[in-house]
Amino acid sequence: MKKIVILTLFKNMFDEFLKSNAIKKAIEQKKVSIDLVDIRDFTNDKHKRVDFPPYGGGTGMIISCEPLCLAIDYSLNNILNSEKENTKIIYMSPRGKLLNYNLSKEISDDGYNYVIICGHYEGIDERVIEEYDIMEISIGDYVLTGGELACLVLLDSIIRLMPGVLSDGALDEESHTDNLLEYPQYTKPSEFRGRKVPEILISGNHQKINEYRKQESIRITKKYRPELLQKDK
Ligand code: ADE
Repeated sequence: MKKIVILTLFKNMFDEFLKSNAIKKAIEQKKVSIDLVDIRDFTNDKHKRVDFPPYGGGTGMIISCEPLCLAIDYSLNNILNSEKENTKIIYMSPRGKLLNYNLSKEISDDGYNYVIICGHYEGIDERVIEEYDIMEISIGDYVLTGGELACLVLLDSIIRLMPGVLSDGALDEESHTDNLLEYPQYTKPSEFRGRKVPEILISGNHQKINEYRKQESIRITKKYRPELLQKDK
């Protein structure tokens, strides 16, 4: 089972996600465990503050070293415990490695446990990054107010790839496997406002349907993301 510990100041942002069908199933089937740790529980500040202004001036607040490092140590020593040697640490950050299908797949089945740090405000003290061997991951070239949404994106993208979480075959032909986007899909009714479902999809000829879908995948990829066709698999 992959153990994931999330360090955050906003634990409740994960509530609905953890209740959603696929994620609940993955947890019940013991494919993954998710522990939420509140960074604020580790501050020694009498007002429970975790963030302070940056040295050198500037706007915004920085999460300070001590509560964050104590929260990391607690996660490694008290939650992951005997499995801490087999654990990697991720910090969700706009300067990190860009998340894509291959990185999600790698994290999904690499056999490691993960501690994931969600920063807030203007970021975290750089010395935390230096203190541990931390991989930084970004979900896109834009800046969010905190790492929680990015962490949810990462979690969702890795958990759905775990064997048995989605129904059989659901992952076979989805977008980004083999650097192709998925072919267009249709459901009932067979005609809507004069638009008919492509005849071949109701023909019952599965070989022809597969060939048609493959061609459509290539057409859609050329149209929406032509650069994917140049990428190494
Ligand atoms: N935190 C703030 N912006 C982010 C981004 N784009 N990706 C990951 N974490 C972030």
